[in-house]
Amino acid sequence: MIVDDRLMGLRVDAERFRRDFEALSEIGATGDGGVHRPALGEAHLAAREWLRDRIVAAGLEFRVDSAGNHSAVLRCGPQEAPRLLLGSHLDSVPHGGRYDGALGVLAALEALRVVSAAGVSLSVNLEAIDFTDEEGTLVGLLGSAALAGILQEAALREPRGGRVVLEEGLARAGLTEAGLFQAARDPASLAAYLELHIEQGRRLVDAGVTIGVVTSIAGINSYRLDFVGEPNHAGTTGMEDRRDAALGAASFALAAREVVMDGFPDCVANVGDMRFAPGAFNIVPGRVELALEFRAQDRDSFEHLERALLRRAEEEARRFGLGLEVEWLGKCEPTPTSIIAQRAVADAAASLGLSHVALPTGAGHDAQSLAGICPIGMVFVPSVDGASHSPREFTRWEDCVSGANVLLQAALRMAQQVGAGAAG
Ligand code: GLV
Ligand code: MN
Ligand code: MN
Repeated sequence: MIVDDRLMGLRVDAERFRRDFEALSEIGATGDGGVHRPALGEAHLAAREWLRDRIVAAGLEFRVDSAGNHSAVLRCGPQEAPRLLLGSHLDSVPHGGRYDGALGVLAALEALRVVSAAGVSLSVNLEAIDFTDEEGTLVGLLGSAALAGILQEAALREPRGGRVVLEEGLARAGLTEAGLFQAARDPASLAAYLELHIEQGRRLVDAGVTIGVVTSIAGINSYRLDFVGEPNHAGTTGMEDRRDAALGAASFALAAREVVMDGFPDCVANVGDMRFAPGAFNIVPGRVELALEFRAQDRDSFEHLERALLRRAEEEARRFGLGLEVEWLGKCEPTPTSIIAQRAVADAAASLGLSHVALPTGAGHDAQSLAGICPIGMVFVPSVDGASHSPREFTRWEDCVSGANVLLQAALRMAQQVGAGAAG
């Protein structure tokens, strides 16, 4: 892909980008280097207000859709030209890091500011977008699924974070469930979606490479499994006589690890939560609600792993004389990125003299939602120690700037491809 010299010379303003990053990191700061900004909570909404102010201050058009997605729009192309979306999310996992999502939103905003200041015309219009609830403290990929028109009513009935938290969040943000379904965009209005993100693993640091060109995004499936026994007196009920729900749940957590390591070496499974009821020192647990999530890069393993884990949960429940209640909480399929976008990212990195490598990712991203309606691509930068979803999350600032420049240059390349009628 060849881009004209003027566009090739465009770079983000590293200092302005850094000032924004530091200011945003203060919102919901936990004092240990991390942030706590669960979707549609007070801190998240404050971060979105801050973003709106930055968009307006940059002289860009500000837009919020009925799923709460916040955007800056730069009309740098013909009136009816499709939008090239750049973005990520400002929500965080509970007690998460400063980089996950925030970096991509700010890099997208920075890219629009640079193109705006350069006064160049492209064959597309640009939009920097902050998607609602990427992390799944409510539903997961909520805003991007709504925008892509693939949000399922079932996902709202049994959300990962529970109904009450979802209802409270929507009310706090002035959103409605009906509105979520009205945020769907016409696919013809979208040219492509590109996202800068931290890798959240250790491949790039271990390889000493600056830029990751993402080839595919893991499928993610989640279930709530309830192991059901009988609450009883912890002192007077003999060990043989107990129907202890904790034993089934704990034994399943170990078994899930075994299932993956023995039969699905490229997959992962996580038991991220267990809630004991009634939950007291002196009562044999009558029920344990267990949060199970598993991920795979290909559909075959994804389906086989699902069957293997559910079978194993039944076996462990039976082994301890327990019942098992299974509630499916939704999934997104493994998603390859677009070849054109991969090329744009790799070419952009090469043009900037940055080392790059192709790699899949085990993390979920909004790009997954959009893959069915436009070409998607992702740029990764190294996570020191591979730490993420933790206050320890850290990426060297020069790598953040390199990633933002790759995003900008990849976007310019994608814009040209779309203009040449070659998107797909
Ligand atoms: C989101 O970051 C996820 O991978 O769960
Ligand atoms: Mn993220
Ligand atoms: Mn995340």
